[in-house]
Amino acid sequence: MRSPSFYLASEILSGSPTLFCSQVLPAAAVDRSKFRTCEQGSFCRRYKKWISRPEREKALWTVLPQTRAPLPEGGFSFQVKHVNEETPHLLLKLNIYASGMVRMRITEIKPLHIRHEIPPGDVVSDPPPAAAKVSEADESGKSIFKFATADGTAAEDRTELNARNMLNFERYRTPKERLPPDTASVAAPDTVLLDAAAHPNGLDTNGLWEEPFGGHTDQKPRGPASLGMDVSFLGDVPSLFGLPEHATKASLPFYQEPYRFFNLDVFEYEIDEPMALYGAIPIIWAIHRLGGQTVSSGFLWINPSETFVKLERDTPDGKGGPAHAWWTSESGVLDTVVMVGPTPKTVSAQFHDLTGHGPMPGLWALGKHQCRWNYMSEKDVATVDSMYDKYDIPYDTIWLDIEHTDGKAYFSWNAAAFPNPKQMIDNISAKRRKFVNVVDPHIKKDEKFHVYREVRDKGFFVKKVSYKQIDDPTDVKPADWVEETKIPDPTATQPPELFCGEGGWHPRKVNDPTPDLTDFEGWCWPGTSLYPDFTDPAMREYWGSQFALDKYTGTNADTYIWNDMNEPSVFNGPEVTMPRDAIHPNGMVEHRDVHNMYGYYVHRATFEGLQKRTPGDRPFVLTRSFFIGSHKYSAIWTGDNYAQWSHLKASIAMVGALTLGGQSLVGADVGGFFKHPDTEMTVRWYQLAVLIYPFLRNHAHLETPRREPYVFDEKTMLRIKASLQMRYKMLPLWYTLFHRWASAAEPVVRPLFWDFLDDPQTHENEEALESQIMLGDSLLVHGIAKPSSEQSEATVYLPKASGWYSIHNGAFKAPGAHVHKLDLDSIPAYYRAGTVVPLKSRIRRSSACMSLDPFTLNVYLNPQTGAAKGRLYIDDYRTRTYQDVGLLCARKIDFTCSARLGTRTHHAKASFEETLKSSH
Ligand code: NOJ
Repeated sequence: MRSPSFYLASEILSGSPTLFCSQVLPAAAVDRSKFRTCEQGSFCRRYKKWISRPEREKALWTVLPQTRAPLPEGGFSFQVKHVNEETPHLLLKLNIYASGMVRMRITEIKPLHIRHEIPPGDVVSDPPPAAAKVSEADESGKSIFKFATADGTAAEDRTELNARNMLNFERYRTPKERLPPDTASVAAPDTVLLDAAAHPNGLDTNGLWEEPFGGHTDQKPRGPASLGMDVSFLGDVPSLFGLPEHATKASLPFYQEPYRFFNLDVFEYEIDEPMALYGAIPIIWAIHRLGGQTVSSGFLWINPSETFVKLERDTPDGKGGPAHAWWTSESGVLDTVVMVGPTPKTVSAQFHDLTGHGPMPGLWALGKHQCRWNYMSEKDVATVDSMYDKYDIPYDTIWLDIEHTDGKAYFSWNAAAFPNPKQMIDNISAKRRKFVNVVDPHIKKDEKFHVYREVRDKGFFVKKVSYKQIDDPTDVKPADWVEETKIPDPTATQPPELFCGEGGWHPRKVNDPTPDLTDFEGWCWPGTSLYPDFTDPAMREYWGSQFALDKYTGTNADTYIWNDMNEPSVFNGPEVTMPRDAIHPNGMVEHRDVHNMYGYYVHRATFEGLQKRTPGDRPFVLTRSFFIGSHKYSAIWTGDNYAQWSHLKASIAMVGALTLGGQSLVGADVGGFFKHPDTEMTVRWYQLAVLIYPFLRNHAHLETPRREPYVFDEKTMLRIKASLQMRYKMLPLWYTLFHRWASAAEPVVRPLFWDFLDDPQTHENEEALESQIMLGDSLLVHGIAKPSSEQSEATVYLPKASGWYSIHNGAFKAPGAHVHKLDLDSIPAYYRAGTVVPLKSRIRRSSACMSLDPFTLNVYLNPQTGAAKGRLYIDDYRTRTYQDVGLLCARKIDFTCSARLGTRTHHAKASFEETLKSSH
């Protein structure tokens, strides 16, 4: 018999793409008592005990080679047997995708209840399978799968799954039972080591069937169903990146507390934390130094239930050597993908091959967005719009927050403040600008509100279960039952008490299998609110139809949508969200199974609705909550940040992590949402944001002073204006980079290692990693996150390239560390030598007004070769005809200079007017 263990080692084939405020603010403080830690959640606590069991290295699972069977979509499956059971109960599926990915899924063969799986196509579509060979080997006591490309090129191992024997897979069981009903245990039940919910070592049965937290008791009639596994990143792994969304560092810290994925509305989140935030893209990027080479790989954990991931090292100082992670999720199936790289570009391409490519945003979406909670009237909107023009500051979009509605019944208008909304928006359109309205997914309980009535009548609201205990019909009195007879007390002076339920035979109590289901009601902005089941395609269709112009009155085709509070936020719910035991009528799925995807389904429904509303137009949706694949539908912002220097700095890492998760249209609220930034912080925030936030929005809390650029003193206003003008000047570069993202999966903004993997400083120079980021492959930006009273100079690290030119004065710098004297007019930013940057020279009031203006190509020569390369992408900037190759213009620009001109900048005018004219 094979050794009772397996691990999955992906063999990497070198070079082969085919395998496979001025005042000191009080610190923002999150109320930690509201949110669970690993230790406070039963499945995570259980898992930690499971992996610390004695003799964990004794393997528990055997993959049965004789059960190998082909899968219809390509790949194959194996049955997996536990060492303490006679029959196999798990099914392992393996897929190898041609772009260089290995996917491993594990589920139950015959579950007592259906385990939730994400419907095919909702997150992952089957990429083309590989012509790779997979062989099994039995090496050093383990079952090992080896993957090799058809040509069998030599390879190095970089990723191992379950190499530390941490696989846990809890099968559903009948109430109060210790073991699953299909258990064929060879040992006594009290001593059997089966899974984290049934083992003799420090067994923790608290929370298996019900679990109280924050005044709510989570009922779990199906019992424990969690799963977990380890992954090891081999070689010398200097840094791990990714795991969005967390307010942490770029190079992920190895915290004591595991990173948590449980989409939540976290009030006043803190930074340098593994606490959960609004969205979940459970992806880790690893850098491996192996055999004299540096390569990268990715690992994705596809599970929408609550998930924890703990990063670990072998070394006591936590530095160097391999890195490990263990993962555990509350329910569902185990579904993991190894993206084998070897370059960052291939990892990104592999991720998008799996999850799909993002769409081109409208050009306007890359311009400046002006938002606040709230612009209070039509006059207010018109004033803000005209003040931008008065001060000649470019902007593209004005936004309305929740106060524009009639009592927070979305799709409606507060008639007193917004009596003629259509006229208001038409006026904005006439300026060639756009409009965004917030539409949250909680539905006001109000008989007068048509959306409430219709969703209720269609039965689409998420349900609450009222569990009743009934006698278990399967528990019958044994035929040989001997009733205990009580011997009368001869000394008694009174008759015995009436029988009150004690003694005698009673059937066991179970939850009523057909409990009462009523619409779940929670609290949100409107007061009592209900929550549609967005997992249901029919509900999504209904939701999408509400954006039709004849339904959503007061809007026009230039109106786009912001979906907020979609974690979902339930003010009086456990952890400010929906109870896990709520039921989605679509398939009677428990909320716990789909929690991290709720927000995804909301914004996807909105995107699809806008697509139908204005056929051919590029929809724009902003979402707060998200999941793997959200990049296909929405822009994301980092939620309710704070006007603090630390939040300004953290946004660099947060944006970088999100873009590594495929999400390029991202940004943070410029200036911070809570509290008021002082003028210096405001300026520094704009200077950074215009260069590194693809989604550039100024937004602020209801109780803050106004913050539009023109409200500040003249010097401040001029500095903000200069930053925004620079953004508009650079729109051709941003747009071209978005085309690279949409067509070639290249993140628009990315951590330094993505472009300079061979430069070790980009994996380990902490100051460079946390303060710097790249815009495309051409611009390096260093954020300034301290006031001038504390910082007068910055050390900028310029990675190994043929040189760098200051974006501000063209000064040439060689690679390496440079001390940069700071002034308030700019932050350090450098174009890479050898690049051609497409720009516009004339700034007008909005991006649409600039679309026919000529381009300027700035050439930053490589001083060694006298050459430079770049790209320019042009289309009509707003329709989906770009998908038709004939209607776009994508040019590669090669510039060669016979004389070596060093630092001079060359301007060349491009003539693409014809392309543009044809599409306007
Ligand atoms: C919470 C959001 O994060 C914030 O941006 C918004 O202004 C408020 N909800 C009100 O809608």
